[in-house]
Amino acid sequence: MKRELPVNTIYKCDSAIFLQRIVSRSIHLIVTSPPYNDARSYTHEFNVTVFHLEKILMESCRVLVNGGVFAIVVGDTVVNKSETGLPARIVTFMLDYCHMTLHDTMIFEKNSSGHRESNRYQQVFEFVLVFSKYGAPRTFTPLRDHPIKSSKPWGTRTFRQYDGSLCETERKTYNNDFDVRRNIWKYSVGGRGVASTFKRVSEHPATCPDRLPEDLILTWSERGDIVMDPFCGSGTTCAMAKKHGRLYLGCDISEQFCELSRDRINNTVTLEPEDDNNA
Ligand SMILES: C[S@@+](CC[C@H](N)C(=O)[O-])C[C@H]1O[C@@H](n2cnc3c(N)ncnc32)[C@H](O)[C@@H]1O
Repeated sequence: MKRELPVNTIYKCDSAIFLQRIVSRSIHLIVTSPPYNDARSYTHEFNVTVFHLEKILMESCRVLVNGGVFAIVVGDTVVNKSETGLPARIVTFMLDYCHMTLHDTMIFEKNSSGHRESNRYQQVFEFVLVFSKYGAPRTFTPLRDHPIKSSKPWGTRTFRQYDGSLCETERKTYNNDFDVRRNIWKYSVGGRGVASTFKRVSEHPATCPDRLPEDLILTWSERGDIVMDPFCGSGTTCAMAKKHGRLYLGCDISEQFCELSRDRINNTVTLEPEDDNNA
């Protein structure tokens, strides 16, 4: 029988092995982003030479509690002139082989883009694929920051119609109320101070902006829950979990990145519950 792994720890390990050490149905939320830039062999496994993504997906589902959520941030890359289709392949695998529920197909829109290509539009987003285990997520705290227009008109404005005549319409303004956020989330990406407050963030080449895992954690977990990232990189998910009073488990194959994560987490302060939404 497996023993519970100590939480609030970053493990230097291949995540396929790390996950095997975790007790079934013990993790509440997984927020992760795999190293998909090198994933290119799709005959049976996604890419056996770089990492065993299918195995990691399967094990991730095993360790989740019922109603637990698996949120994976994944974009597409062009290989041999074709997009790889990795996000779609992950969805198919999770539905067909892991029997997870595809709860929400969300978009992480970036305020900047990679290099321009001559024959396709610029890539400005990644998917955030949100799966839940055996039905609906066990918890959902929607973020309310979508500005809503006031029901009261504020003055009028005029515009010219096709026939040249002027038409007057009511001008609406935004009031101070907010609606539930939509499922396209836009964040700044880039170095320290733009997407992250962590001063060593540039030591990792592919970090998520702090707010992305932070908002996923606030939405799909509760204080005291265990949040895991099997590809923890610079420790963004684990640091945001600690910041909001969750327990965390992280794993990365690189000792250098594990050390980076530990430093980041040690310098992360846990907020009081009432400050969660003002972070
Ligand atoms: C896209 S990065 C994750 C970045 C992270 N979300 C952040 O904000 O810093 C993917 C990470 O997976 C790690 N990795 C690659 N193969 C791995 C494996 N087999 N097991 C564990 N970690 C692995 C890499 O070292 C890299 O840090």
